[in-house]
Amino acid sequence: MADKSDDRPHEVALETRAAAGEKLYSPSAARNRDAIRDVMLDIMPSEGKILEIGGGTGEHGVHIAAAAPRLTWHTGDPDPASRASIAAWISAAGLANLKGPHAIDVTAEDWGVEAGAPFDGLVSINMIHIAPFAAATGLFAGAGRVLRSGGALFFYGPFSRGGVHSAPSNEAFDASLKSRDPRWGVRDLERDLALLAQKNALTREAIVEMPANNLCVIFRKQ
Ligand SMILES: C[S@@+](CC[C@H](N)C(=O)[O-])C[C@H]1O[C@@H](n2cnc3c(N)ncnc32)[C@H](O)[C@@H]1O
Repeated sequence: MADKSDDRPHEVALETRAAAGEKLYSPSAARNRDAIRDVMLDIMPSEGKILEIGGGTGEHGVHIAAAAPRLTWHTGDPDPASRASIAAWISAAGLANLKGPHAIDVTAEDWGVEAGAPFDGLVSINMIHIAPFAAATGLFAGAGRVLRSGGALFFYGPFSRGGVHSAPSNEAFDASLKSRDPRWGVRDLERDLALLAQKNALTREAIVEMPANNLCVIFRKQ
């Protein structure tokens, strides 16, 4: 939901969605899923176990798992309506490498998947800016626990750099997020995330500029 046109008020932190039976459709995911998949296939491991958190409708998981049969993609969401949609998408897709839904809330100290660790990749698309900062803290701590050495933590969304927004639209989006919930806001790669990465033995490896002033950001577990 980093796309600023999706910045509309909601009771919970979910992007705009349309429904068809159990399956939910996110216009934002429809716009950005090809670009995210392509970057992911370029820079994430081409095989192994990927854990997607905050999977929303489930569309990103289906899209990427279909293009990467050697990846096993585990997706889920703490929101029950999202989980129902994810389950419906998984069932309709019939992909052997698409699993879920889990119900991981990244702020929990134990995600309940630690026994299945280590994972080769951890994916968070459009989540940490639209959740309290504890979500970013919990996500990095979880990456420290469940990623293998050399595993990747992948983000997609809007980010600022060294306290500076990359575009006026991102600055306006940040203000809008904060007006909805003062604990939300566009996160800063240096001021917010660098210390979390360091604390959890992750090193920032790549930044890829994406449409609509979004970024893909990849951290590598040491
Ligand atoms: C804006 S939606 C993005 C959904 C999907 N990743 C996408 O881009 O289409 C944010 C998602 O993050 C989830 N979320 C919010 N807080 C979370 C948390 N603490 N742990 C895990 N997921 C969370 C929400 O339930 C929601 O599905």
